[in-house]
Amino acid sequence: MKRIILYFWKENAQLCLILIGTSVTQILASLMNVSMLNALIKGNTALFVISLGKMLSFYLLFLLFTYWQIQKTSRIKQKMSTHIREEMTKKLAMTSYNEFHSHQVGTYASWLTNDLTMIESAGFDSFYQIIAGGISAVLSIFTLLSFHWSLAVFSLFMGGILISLPKLLQKRMTAASSAVAKENESFLAEVSELLAGYDTLYVFHLLLMIVKRTVTASKKLGNKKNQQAKVMAKVAITGASGNIVGQLGLLAVTGYLVLIEKLTVGSITATGNLGGNIFNTLGNLTQQIGAVQSTKPLFDKFENIQYSKPIVTKPLPLKSGFELKNVSFCYGEKKIINNRTQQFQLGKKYALIGNSGSGKTTLVNILNGKLREYTGTILFNQQDLKTISLDTLHQEVLYLDQSPYLFTGTVRDNLTLGEDYADKDLQEALAQADLLEMIMKLPQGLETPVGENGRLFSGGQKQRLALARGFLRKKKIILVDEGTANLDEESAVKIEQTLMKQTDVLIIMITHHLREKIRAELDEIVDLSN
Ligand SMILES: Nc1ncnc2c1ncn2[C@@H]1O[C@H](COP(=O)(O)OP(=O)(O)OP(=O)(O)O)[C@@H](O)[C@H]1O
Ligand SMILES: [Mg+2]
Repeated sequence: MKRIILYFWKENAQLCLILIGTSVTQILASLMNVSMLNALIKGNTALFVISLGKMLSFYLLFLLFTYWQIQKTSRIKQKMSTHIREEMTKKLAMTSYNEFHSHQVGTYASWLTNDLTMIESAGFDSFYQIIAGGISAVLSIFTLLSFHWSLAVFSLFMGGILISLPKLLQKRMTAASSAVAKENESFLAEVSELLAGYDTLYVFHLLLMIVKRTVTASKKLGNKKNQQAKVMAKVAITGASGNIVGQLGLLAVTGYLVLIEKLTVGSITATGNLGGNIFNTLGNLTQQIGAVQSTKPLFDKFENIQYSKPIVTKPLPLKSGFELKNVSFCYGEKKIINNRTQQFQLGKKYALIGNSGSGKTTLVNILNGKLREYTGTILFNQQDLKTISLDTLHQEVLYLDQSPYLFTGTVRDNLTLGEDYADKDLQEALAQADLLEMIMKLPQGLETPVGENGRLFSGGQKQRLALARGFLRKKKIILVDEGTANLDEESAVKIEQTLMKQTDVLIIMITHHLREKIRAELDEIVDLSN
């Protein structure tokens, strides 16, 4: 957290100035109590009224500073949160495909929401409370010094005890917050998965499972939060006890000083307020420091995302496709691809066939750069595939799986994916994917919403839209993983024929169902069963 605070040091320094303003005006206002009470004792009406007026002005200034402080704090906090989210998502964007999938999507969502909320409240808020309290305590001790040195000494002495008292509990606070963050992750992952499975559970009349498992997960989360509250309560009570002893002690010392006529009676109200400033701060300090420290495991978790800057290579003038030489691949001990030598030439059309589990998807994932831990050599465009950045590879290769993902948005959004393309290019790509006619017949054309993950489109239309994304980007290599498996015969043949029509595009198509019409147009059928 220190790093983030220092990164925004300018804004944080400005906030400190505002906090000093808030503290000073509050102390000055409370000092007016002394002159008011003394004026009353002496029967000096004019002094009483003047002091009252001064007090009012100080309080008005105090309100102004408080207003600034609240606004500024929120602005800095949001800036810092956005910065953390930016850093985190940048790392996720640079992590490997496998590393990314080592966590569930719900877990990442929890990092970006729950954890950030925890960092904002337990981390940033507590940090600013410590700073504000610290400024107010230091100024109060100096003010007490101006009354009598013994008051300042007493405050420092009691303060020392108060700070060191509940240190023992800090470790338990950190542990409790980590446990809550972990349970938050599990909860979000569980709930996201259950809701994503709505359709499946609906079909099996098992929707009540969503309720049952959410309640179980919620109870687990509740337990962890209760355990955390228990530790927090202990810390709060320890701090509050010290606070009470400190404030009463300070009043006793002031009372004694008044009795021996070293201080005026009016002083007692001011020292009461100042004592409040000091001991409230110190009494809460352990809790606040503990809260700040409890965010450390969250930051550590973000720091630990493994990523590497992608090797940047220039776009290729594409001359040839893939050449596999003695390529093998294992998942753990299990050999999936065994010493395979194979060419996939640019412009040609291949079908990958083989039993379920024979490694078809695995091979396509290797070619697509998702799996890089193979042995043997793969040349892509006559260059070692391992030396080619994923960026470069993906500029040429489109991977199309059984259920391509569509973003909630319009046809246009799903084609451009946020990049800039002219309407003419969009239409050309749609035409190439045999989708233009259908889209143009829709009243909203390119602006037609597709629904959540393309819910408003048919399976075949989704496939075509995904294909058009690739045509739009002039991909010269298209890898299709059973892209037509869940389409009706007519749509499947149409899509496969569309693929076969792409004269200078290399098509590698995994299929379980090799249709005669298509077989004739293929250059080679690669059987992975043997
Ligand atoms: N991430 C993984 N970790 C471990 N084993 C895996 C993983 N992915 C696949 N496998 C295993 O690798 C083998 C090959 O899987 P792959 O998905 O390549 O088969 P496939 O030929 O595409 O099968 P299908 O026709 O059923 O899609 C299978 O036995 C599978 O269990
Ligand atoms: Mg497969």
